Amino acid sequence: MSVDREEMACGSGASSASATLPALEMDGLCKRYRQGTTSVVALQQFSMTVQPGEFVAIMGNSGSGKSTLLNLIAGLTRPDEGTVRIDGEEISAMRDPRLTHFRRCKIGLVFQAFNLIPTLPAIDNVRLPVLAGAPQGPLAAEELLRLVGLQHRSTHRPDALSGGEQQRVAIARALISQPSILLADEPTGSLDSVTGQAICRLLKELPRDTGCTVVVVTHEPEVARWADRVVVLRDGRKLTEFSTDSLQDAGALAARYRDIVSGASQEGDAT
Ligand SMILES: Nc1ncnc2c1ncn2[C@@H]1O[C@H](COP(=O)(O)OP(=O)(O)OP(=O)(O)O)[C@@H](O)[C@H]1O
Ligand SMILES: [Mg+2]
Repeated sequence: MSVDREEMACGSGASSASATLPALEMDGLCKRYRQGTTSVVALQQFSMTVQPGEFVAIMGNSGSGKSTLLNLIAGLTRPDEGTVRIDGEEISAMRDPRLTHFRRCKIGLVFQAFNLIPTLPAIDNVRLPVLAGAPQGPLAAEELLRLVGLQHRSTHRPDALSGGEQQRVAIARALISQPSILLADEPTGSLDSVTGQAICRLLKELPRDTGCTVVVVTHEPEVARWADRVVVLRDGRKLTEFSTDSLQDAGALAARYRDIVSGASQEGDAT
């Protein structure tokens, strides 16, 4: 399929977003997975707007639809209903070649399992998206490794890096094209708590250092407390969302989250 040059043009990532345009808008998102003759409703009627530079945490029980939501934002899965807009562009309506290119330009993805190439040193893992055709952002791989505190580990292969260092390489790799949005699914899931907190601090500082918006899926109040806003999912629906402004610490956030989830359970039991 041919795609014209203008259609494939790529803005310069985070800095190209208009100050007045939301970084991310989701409206009425629904996603069902077919399983034989039945279907699983993974997400229903989900709407949310995220402003440029915001750090949002998505929380919810296992199976509540968090990864499905992240995959829809990343354009890795298409919604059955509803729309996803990134920097004002509706990705849910894009054809595949354009969507792939858009994703390379605008979205940085960080997976729980790091997904680094074992045979490549850290520096080449960071460069990999550019070698695969993504645009080079203003920060070179060396600078990104410095940003994540790993300039002294650039020649190390993944098996010669700690778990936290591997995750930081994965974050540097996700930033190489200066994405508008960084999406991370359980980015601290397999890390010890000290390393996990270092990753959270890094995610918190990214909007200041690179201008990108951050959406993180997590089970952990210790991670969510770094976010500006927490969105709680249950059974594929947005239960509620709250600002972390007035919450003193992870303990306060955990208590708030428990109240929300147990209140919803009691409501569910009563109906
Ligand atoms: N490919 C698939 N086919 C069928 N059902 C699926 C598929 N992917 C996810 N599901 C179902 O959709 C629901 C939401 O899954 P999802 O992976 O989004 O949950 P999650 O909140 O990320 O859970 P966890 O915290 O365990 O990672 C679950 O009930 C899951 O079983
Ligand atoms: Mg998940």
